[in-house]
Amino acid sequence: MSSARLLPGGPVAERVLAEVAASVAELRAAGVTPALATVLVGDDDASAGYIRIKSRQAAELGFASPHVHLPASASQADLHAVLADFNADRGVHGVLVQHPIPGHLDYDRALAELDPDKDVDGMHPVNMGRLALGLPGPLPCTPAGIEALLAFHGVPVAGREVVVLGRGATLGRPLAMLLAQKRPTANAAVTVVHTGVADWPRYTRRAEILVAAAGVPGIVRPEHVRPGAVVVGGGVRYEGRRLLPDVDESCAEVAGAITPRVGGVGPTTVAMLFRNAVRAAVRANA
Ligand SMILES: NC(=O)c1ccc[n+]([C@@H]2O[C@H](COP(=O)([O-])OP(=O)(O)OC[C@H]3O[C@@H](n4cnc5c(N)ncnc54)[C@H](OP(=O)(O)O)[C@@H]3O)[C@@H](O)[C@H]2O)c1
Repeated sequence: MSSARLLPGGPVAERVLAEVAASVAELRAAGVTPALATVLVGDDDASAGYIRIKSRQAAELGFASPHVHLPASASQADLHAVLADFNADRGVHGVLVQHPIPGHLDYDRALAELDPDKDVDGMHPVNMGRLALGLPGPLPCTPAGIEALLAFHGVPVAGREVVVLGRGATLGRPLAMLLAQKRPTANAAVTVVHTGVADWPRYTRRAEILVAAAGVPGIVRPEHVRPGAVVVGGGVRYEGRRLLPDVDESCAEVAGAITPRVGGVGPTTVAMLFRNAVRAAVRANA
C-alpha cells in the first residue's frame, strides 16, 4: 500500500498563472498588451492541438497570441523569415515554435535564429549559457517547473543530495545546473547519471530527491529509490495518446513523496512558459 505524499503540479501551476495574470493586468493598465506568438509547421494533429490549448490559455491570461501556420513543405528559410519578422516586431514579446517540426527542418538552427529575449522555452543557446553563468534570462520550462514544484510543496532542496537520471538538453542537464545554483530553493548537491554510468542505481539509491529524466518507461523501480525519498517523474514517453512515465507506480510504496502519474511536472512546465512570456514583456517595457 502506498504511503507516499503526492506532489501534484496543478496547484503550483495555478499559483504561477495567478502571478502571470496579475503581471499581465499591470502591463495592460500601462497600455502594453503582452504578446506570445506561436508558430506551427505542418499538419500534425497533436501539435495543432497543443497550439490551440496554449492560444486559448494565452487569451484567458490576457495575452495577444499572433499565430503563423506554415505548410509542411515550408523551407528552413521560410521558418527563419517568420522568426525574423517576430524578432523585429516590438509588439511581440515571446515566440514559441511548436515542437516537433517536419523532419526536413532543423529545430535547433531555427531556435538559434530567435531573439534570445523572446525565447519562452528558455532553450536558446544564449539562455542555456545564461543559466550556466547564473545570469538572468528565460529559464528552461520543465526544470524551472520542477524547482517551483518542490518549493511549493515545502520539499527542502538546499544542502540535500539530488540525483538526476538523464542528461538531456531539455530536462536533466539544465535541471542539474538550476538546482546547483546558490539560491534558497536550490543549492543542492547534484549528481547526474546516464547510460555512461552502468551502475546508476548505486547513486539513485542514496538520493534524497530523485528526478527521473530519461524518457524510458518504467526505468525507475522501487529498488532504485531510497526509502522515504522524494521522487519526481519528469521523463515520459507518449505512445499515441498513452502516457508512459519513467517512474513505475510501485515506487510510491517506497518513496516519502512522489509526483502523481498524471498532473505532476506537466502543468508546471506550461505555467513556466507563460511566466517566461510575461517576464519578457515586462523586460521589454522596463
Ligand atoms: N513532463 C514534462 O512536461 C516534460 C517536458 C519536457 C521533457 N520531458 C521529458 O523529459 C525526458 C527527457 O528529455 P530530454 O530531452 O532532456 O532527454 P533526452 O535527450 O531524451 O535524453 C535522455 C537521457 O536519459 C538517459 N538515459 C536513457 N536511457 C537510459 C538508461 N537506460 N539508463 C540510464 N540513462 C538513460 C540518456 O543517457 P545518455 O545521455 O547517455 O544517452 C540521456 O541523458 C523525456 O522523456 C521528455 O519527454 C517532460
